[in-house]
Amino acid sequence: MDLTYTAEHEELRRGALDFAKREVEPGLRERDEQAKPDPAIYRKMGQEGFLGICIPEAYGGLGLDYHALGILSEAMEYVDTSARVILSVHNGLHSLAVYQWGTEEQKKAHLVPLARGERIGTFCLTEPACGSDPAGLQCFAERKGDRYILNGEKIWISLSTIADVYLVMAYTDRAKQAASDSHGITAFLVDRAWKGVEPYDLKGKLGVRAGATGGVAFKDVEIPADRVLGGEGNGFKVAMSALDNGRYTVAAGCVGLMKACLDASTKYANERSAGGKVIGKHQLVQQMIAYMVQSIDVGDLLVRRCGWMKNQGLRCTREVSMAKWTNTVNSQQCADHAIEIHGAYGYSNEFPVERYWRNSRGAVIYEGTKEIHQLVQAGYALGYRKDAPLPKELPRWP
Ligand code: CAA
Repeated sequence: MDLTYTAEHEELRRGALDFAKREVEPGLRERDEQAKPDPAIYRKMGQEGFLGICIPEAYGGLGLDYHALGILSEAMEYVDTSARVILSVHNGLHSLAVYQWGTEEQKKAHLVPLARGERIGTFCLTEPACGSDPAGLQCFAERKGDRYILNGEKIWISLSTIADVYLVMAYTDRAKQAASDSHGITAFLVDRAWKGVEPYDLKGKLGVRAGATGGVAFKDVEIPADRVLGGEGNGFKVAMSALDNGRYTVAAGCVGLMKACLDASTKYANERSAGGKVIGKHQLVQQMIAYMVQSIDVGDLLVRRCGWMKNQGLRCTREVSMAKWTNTVNSQQCADHAIEIHGAYGYSNEFPVERYWRNSRGAVIYEGTKEIHQLVQAGYALGYRKDAPLPKELPRWP
């Protein structure tokens, strides 16, 4: 396993960080305070090619490898989680699912505008009464000739009012729905502009306030049959494999957030004095700094392992789950330590660390709670969980 990043990867990191400091950082504190996302940032990310970073050039993307997606996610989250979230939902959960599961016609029709950032995609699995257990979905799409009629509601959907197209999971088989048999779930590509699609924003979030999160109600939405992704009854597999990509970007983003915590904390610890010396000289502060360094090293290696496996075309559900679990929990702890080091100032938005803490909290929950990932890890170790081959695997790179 070669986990070295190339000179091109490092160049991408520098360019992405420059972009984030230039385009995301200005006005961020106000956008966070007022919970006002700025969709212009997503358009600019599209112009840079970031929204199609590891989609092949033949489908409108930059054709870079899966490491590049991880590096980009890390660089964006170093500045703000909201700029990484679009990579998770648009690239990880939506476009890569189309790339993995789409027919050639679907890939040509859908991937090109997505990869160029002309259309934004997101992912709709969670429902008001169903989160960790997607087999309990209530959304239902009834087949009527060459169409499906979709009814139901999704919630906690990133970019619900901004995205142009949703990847929606819904049951298409009543008996299987009644039995909570996930083989009755189908994945659909649903346009926001269609009749009966009613997106809304959620207010009052603890974190990621500069990003849009909401829900969407579907009321008798007509979906043409050619908008089924991956075949009828494969929707659970489509969703889980999409999460293998989304969780990878979340884990990589956490490395960026932890680096931001470390940089803010070392700067402050070298400036602020207590007891006649800078606080960095106090051992209990050093302990917290050491924990951050450790978490960054561990997190970075876990992410690189996933990127390498994806590049090789190897299934990495277990490794991605490990990276997502470890890094989200550690990034929350790093952000907590960063506040502690900043003392009372850490409690104010005069410094960014309180935002890091608020932003880190959601990631422990979304894309699989830490408890779900613990169950997944225990399941593999105990021999209860095994990865079965899929009808379509994520293509290796190149
Ligand atoms: N890729 C493809 N297929 C997979 C898969 C994967 N990673 N994991 C499982 N499958 C397949 C299995 O092969 C199996 O297929 P067969 O029955 O045909 O053999 C089928 O799916 C069922 O597998 P399991 O028995 O493992 O499924 P399970 O019910 O035990 O899954 C679970 C349990 C892993 C906990 C899963 O329910 C899970 O991950 N839950 C969390 C859901 C989640 O992350 N939700 C967050 C949504 S996104 C969000 O929050 C935010 C946003 O903005 C988008």
